[in-house]
Amino acid sequence: MSLSAAKVERLPLAPLTTLGVGGEAELWLIEDVRQLPEATQEAYKVLGAGSNLLIGDDGLEERVIKLGCSFNSLAEVDGRLEFWLGAATPLPGLVRRAAELGLSGLEGLLGIPAVLGGAIAMNAGTRFGEIADTLVEVEMFVGGGLERLNAHTLNLSYRHSSLPKGAIITKAKLALSASSPEKVKTLMDKVDTARKGQPKIKSAGCAFKNPLGDSAGRLIDQAGLKGLRVGQAMVSFEHANFIVNLGGAKAADIVKLLALIQEKVSPPLEIEWERWGFKLPLEQSELYDMVDGE
Ligand code: FAD
Ligand code: EPU
Repeated sequence: MSLSAAKVERLPLAPLTTLGVGGEAELWLIEDVRQLPEATQEAYKVLGAGSNLLIGDDGLEERVIKLGCSFNSLAEVDGRLEFWLGAATPLPGLVRRAAELGLSGLEGLLGIPAVLGGAIAMNAGTRFGEIADTLVEVEMFVGGGLERLNAHTLNLSYRHSSLPKGAIITKAKLALSASSPEKVKTLMDKVDTARKGQPKIKSAGCAFKNPLGDSAGRLIDQAGLKGLRVGQAMVSFEHANFIVNLGGAKAADIVKLLALIQEKVSPPLEIEWERWGFKLPLEQSELYDMVDGE
């Protein structure tokens, strides 16, 4: 079969993220693993569903690699307990499909708007379960070729994996257990109830990781910061660990808001989002200094 070239375009990244901010980059849309050697010739980032990202207003110098529809294998989920899935398979559809088939293991991931690759990279989850619970093996493009790694080598823990630097997950093997649609639904209803208080408008989920034994949302709320606003970025009234984009927020607004929150809350909160297109770590950026001057 002949290999067609990857689609390459310079595009604004904001529409490719759930937060809806971020400038331009060169986007490489990949439909075949054989396009990856060329795509990875220069510095790059790998984009999933863009649901845990804060991208700078000036965009990225690196190219952005995104796996396209041919890495979505949702249609192949047919009731087997163990299966390989492409890394661009959307989690919401996968959770729903497993529930219909009475397969258990993914219920805790209900409501997470990731694709499989991004969910593995961040070990997405809730207190009801995380992707690590079902992950058996991962195939990734790394060092110029494909490699398969057992899931335990990725050291998946709370919102963390130790993927090799530059690795692009292409597919993953999951193992689910046989249950019934009714039992799966009962657990999913609990997860749904736990998420009821989360905002439905543009965000990137929780901005900060929970400190051990506490909730960042509770701490930010207790500090009286709900409704705190910089430009069009605001601490959600519904859940204080969500920063929402009211429409047209700039990354610069959000950076300032993050700093204001960190200044006013103790213990110190660690940012959960990955940040792209910032020259310095946010904590050392000029925008953070500006907060002191106000
Ligand atoms: P992206 O945000 O696009 O990228 C995140 C990281 O994954 C980046 O480092 C990226 O390079 C890497 N990545 C993506 N694809 C690949 C790949 N193929 N190979 C290698 N690396 C890759 N998270 C939770 O854990 N629990 C929640 O309950 C939760 N709720 C949320 C609710 C809302 C409304 C939103 C907007 C977000 C929520 N999140 C939650 C955050 C987010 O969905 C997760 O962190 C998710 O894992 C990010 O996946 P993504 O596909 O969007 O990845
Ligand atoms: N709380 C407040 N005020 C708020 C928010 C929360 O007082 O504004 C209190 C709640 O009343 C509750 C406690 O804080 O007593 C915990 O709140 P919640 O159940 O909402 O859980 P969370 O710790 O804030 C975590 C994850 C979410 C995940 C939910 C559901 C983190 C940082 N957050 O939130 O994950 O969806 O549990 O399991 O781990 C994400 O990571 O992006 C994310 C959304």
